Amino acid sequence: MKVFVTGGSGFIGRHLCWALVREGHSVTVGDVRNPLMNGVDFVPMDITRPETIPNLRGYNAVVHLAAVLGVANSEKNPMLTLDVNIDGVRNILNSCIEGEVERFLFTSSSEVYGEPARTPIREDDFFNPVSPYGVSKIVGEEYVKVVSKTSGMKYNIFRLFSVYGPGQSPEFVMPRFVQLAMENKTLTVHGDGTQTRAFCYVSDVVDAMLLAIKNPMNEVFNIGNSSEPVTIEKLAKKVIDVTESTSKVEFVKEEDSGRGRKRDIYHRIPDTEKAANMLGFKAKVGLEEGISRLADSVRGS
Ligand SMILES: NC(=O)c1ccc[n+]([C@@H]2O[C@H](COP(=O)([O-])OP(=O)(O)OC[C@H]3O[C@@H](n4cnc5c(N)ncnc54)[C@H](O)[C@@H]3O)[C@@H](O)[C@H]2O)c1
Repeated sequence: MKVFVTGGSGFIGRHLCWALVREGHSVTVGDVRNPLMNGVDFVPMDITRPETIPNLRGYNAVVHLAAVLGVANSEKNPMLTLDVNIDGVRNILNSCIEGEVERFLFTSSSEVYGEPARTPIREDDFFNPVSPYGVSKIVGEEYVKVVSKTSGMKYNIFRLFSVYGPGQSPEFVMPRFVQLAMENKTLTVHGDGTQTRAFCYVSDVVDAMLLAIKNPMNEVFNIGNSSEPVTIEKLAKKVIDVTESTSKVEFVKEEDSGRGRKRDIYHRIPDTEKAANMLGFKAKVGLEEGISRLADSVRGS
């Protein structure tokens, strides 16, 4: 297939592009940053500026990853978040309609659920976003569905849950903990550490994406690893164990964390049965294995 990956220079994008190239697909990255990898074509573009988006005719699939990320970041930069994550999506979708692109994979987020009414969270649970980021992803999802209804383009929407792996920005908890542990520095936990997360190694997410590109079903899927939910306190201790670090764990009140939030979402664990049944997706990389692979990549860098 000919696949166009927006945001392909980013964390997940790079892993996806490597996998697509390995499978023999022809890959073009569209991003404001250079992908810094071989084997893909690159178009410098900004999704908020439609005139920079190339003609997408001839591409079999578009994977849309380009976004402004993160809850805290979106609270600091709400207008930029809405611009990139809503107008940007609309611009890419317009180009897909013009180019008669057959399939579209949209990366949404667990943030659309906010503080969920129950765990694990199912795809048909209520939206309850608490940030501009969560809101922007809901609107993005809806745009995708509208375009599909009116143009016939087929899609899948992935609500990703706490992805981690080599190359992720250090503002996220997993790379921050691993880096600090490897330097034997204190790991700071925001709040009381009882927040629960289910971390999913990036290669599992990429596997799910490969399945979704091949099989566009006009469906929304939770994508994550629900097999080993962990509190942030336990995660800090696990990272210290796996990296054989002498680091200590310290707790900082949410309001003193500098992240501008009173407290985190408490429990965020996906129910991934729908992706298992319809896509044949199952996360394979356990938490210890993933932390160990991430630590290896930090050692090698
Ligand atoms: N990493 C996670 O845990 C996670 C969780 C939920 C959802 N997601 C979603 O997955 C997608 C990929 O996330 P990631 O972790 O790889 O993020 P990332 O920040 O590493 O990559 C995003 C890429 O988008 C590009 N980009 C940003 N603004 C752009 C613009 N205006 N025009 C063109 N390119 C632009 C950036 O340069 C970057 O290369 C995002 O849509 C994100 O919302 C990620």
